[in-house]
Amino acid sequence: MPFPTHRMRRVRATEPLRNLVRETQLDPRDFILPLFACPGKGVRRAISSMPGNYQLSIDELVKECSQAHSLGIGGVILFGIPETKDELASGAYADDGIVQQAVRAVKREVPKLLVMTDVCNCEYTSHGHCGLVVDGEVQNDPTLEWLAKAAVSHARAGADVVAPSDMMDGRVAAIRKALDESGFPHTPILAYAAKYASAFYGPFREAAESTPQFGDRRSYQMDPANGREAMREIELDLEEGADMIMVKPAMPYLDIIRQARDRFDAPLGAYQVSGEFSMLMAAIQNNWLDRDRAILESLTSIRRAGADFMLTYFAKDAAKLL
Ligand code: PBG
Repeated sequence: MPFPTHRMRRVRATEPLRNLVRETQLDPRDFILPLFACPGKGVRRAISSMPGNYQLSIDELVKECSQAHSLGIGGVILFGIPETKDELASGAYADDGIVQQAVRAVKREVPKLLVMTDVCNCEYTSHGHCGLVVDGEVQNDPTLEWLAKAAVSHARAGADVVAPSDMMDGRVAAIRKALDESGFPHTPILAYAAKYASAFYGPFREAAESTPQFGDRRSYQMDPANGREAMREIELDLEEGADMIMVKPAMPYLDIIRQARDRFDAPLGAYQVSGEFSMLMAAIQNNWLDRDRAILESLTSIRRAGADFMLTYFAKDAAKLL
């Protein structure tokens, strides 16, 4: 007879008991804060759909990074909004591109902060797609060259980790080869391995000005209905040389995070994306959700599902709460 011998409530009765039996812990070191670099000086342009997030000129971005560092946050991931866009995504792999400049500035001013870069083309192409477009189709193999050049330019600028998010086939291998040949054999690759074609990227596209001008990303990002396919994507990225893997978005894909954790021993990240943030923020601002508890519970659920680290726009808020 389990009851009354067993009473699950016994160890929930007091705070010290609850602390003792807690299975999942959050630590600011496991948070990565996404930041958006834009041209100019003294620019802090609010992103309306993401309250508390800004397009930042490099001087402002550096301030944000030193704040993140003093809060004990694990690192930042940088995205760029270039002055001009073109068909060839030139700004993505220019040595003086906006992200490359931002990396140099952050590594100079806050050298101990881990700096990751998002390797993709959609912020830099005039059409907003993640690769070379020919006859309305995103081309896979020619895009690999851009990605490899971008990753090398980021490493040259001092990036600690490069994170390809484009979902072209073969990009991890192409980037690994280019990094090795360019003298960066020690720069790790964090692959956005299982990245879904998600509605939850909406606010990010406002932030990064990267909405596709025609069509959508479903010919390269994954179908939200597929779970087994995510395991194949991850497996292939690891075979190609990914050092760390990521599932994105996070909360609607906790089952994928769990499967990935159980199946692969590589460090696993999860991206709590812009739409997840905005959705929670909207409810918080309406007083429909308790801010602090909603933030921590959302991150705890992602960690409990198996993520080692989390990319989250709540990084600073959560660090302050811990
Ligand atoms: C670039 C990229 C995107 C995100 C991260 N890298 C947008 C997209 O794929 O459309 C989304 C991040 C977010 O929503 O917070 N390809």
